[in-house]
Amino acid sequence: DWVMRDHVAEAVALIREQVGDEEVILGLSGGVDSSVAAALIHRAIGDQLTCVFVDHGLLRLNEGDMVMEMFVGKLHAKVIRVDAAELFLGKLAGVSDPEAKRKVIGGEFVTVFKQEAAKLKASAAGRLGVDGLPSVKGAKWLAQGTIYPDVIESGGAKSKKAVTIKSHHNVGGLPEQLGLKLLEPLRDLFKDEVRELGVALGLPPEMVYRHPFPGPGLGVRILGEVKQEYADLLRRADAIFIEELRNCIDPATNKSWYELTSQAFTVFLPVKSVGVMGDGRTYDYVVALRAVQTSDFMTADWAELPYALLKKVSGRIINEVRGINRVTYDVSSKPPATIEWE
Ligand code: XMP
Repeated sequence: DWVMRDHVAEAVALIREQVGDEEVILGLSGGVDSSVAAALIHRAIGDQLTCVFVDHGLLRLNEGDMVMEMFVGKLHAKVIRVDAAELFLGKLAGVSDPEAKRKVIGGEFVTVFKQEAAKLKASAAGRLGVDGLPSVKGAKWLAQGTIYPDVIESGGAKSKKAVTIKSHHNVGGLPEQLGLKLLEPLRDLFKDEVRELGVALGLPPEMVYRHPFPGPGLGVRILGEVKQEYADLLRRADAIFIEELRNCIDPATNKSWYELTSQAFTVFLPVKSVGVMGDGRTYDYVVALRAVQTSDFMTADWAELPYALLKKVSGRIINEVRGINRVTYDVSSKPPATIEWE
């Protein structure tokens, strides 16, 4: 709509005015806020923006490739993808406490991002002037997808998780540490407005209206110690669940069950149970499906998904993901349970 188009034009003008001909670095996570911030800043200053995408190996199936396809393939933005899966898995070996895992992932994320940002600050990021020499001395700005609720949150009381969220994505203190100026073009916007802006900028609605995904990713959806094998099994099971939620349309509302739920995902349980397949006995892992409805994520009800949908998801996971032989559905509300299992 025209209001949003106006907003895009205004935001673009403001970014150009602030940044001038200087270079900007942005940490791209694949989440809504950093994606919209990247698309907006790219619209404003094009190649003066370099995105750093730290792939910690705990993303959903094909997510890293999808981020690259969107930002490099379609928007032609400059993105440095750091494949840090091995590094993160190494650091997570032997760590099973949920908060300890969050600390490892958040801390490592900052370390890797800082290294990349420091390189970009030191170099001219490949931009050449008329004489063939670098036209810019290196990055001067750090852009973050901070939105209005983040601004309020960091001013008020912080929950333990809010601090973790902050330390993971909208990294407090990082601009100072890197000697960069802070660019936060979404600071005044609520989530709905960020989504509308994303669509106005040409990001696909499926991306912009995605369910929230925690910064530590599958790291907190694999109970206990994180292992490559578990992450691979979980990714495939979760992709099936999400695909079926998107495909299953509720006749009463004509909406998919993906749209009818606020957050849905699969949890990996590192326990084995006995099953039977053909003539043989299996002894394999268990997953739990979780789907909730909530308006604020502070309280949440488990979603009354149609049995036919659960049946289809369970059948597909057990048949298609060798290594999982049992699927359960989580019927706990928040409180007293939380949305995530860790
Ligand atoms: P819980 O499990 O506390 O989750 O009911 C509430 C919301 O917060 C998300 N969540 C996180 N997001 N880093 C994040 O970025 C985290 O460590 C984290 N833990 C929980 C969760 O997915 C849900 O949307």
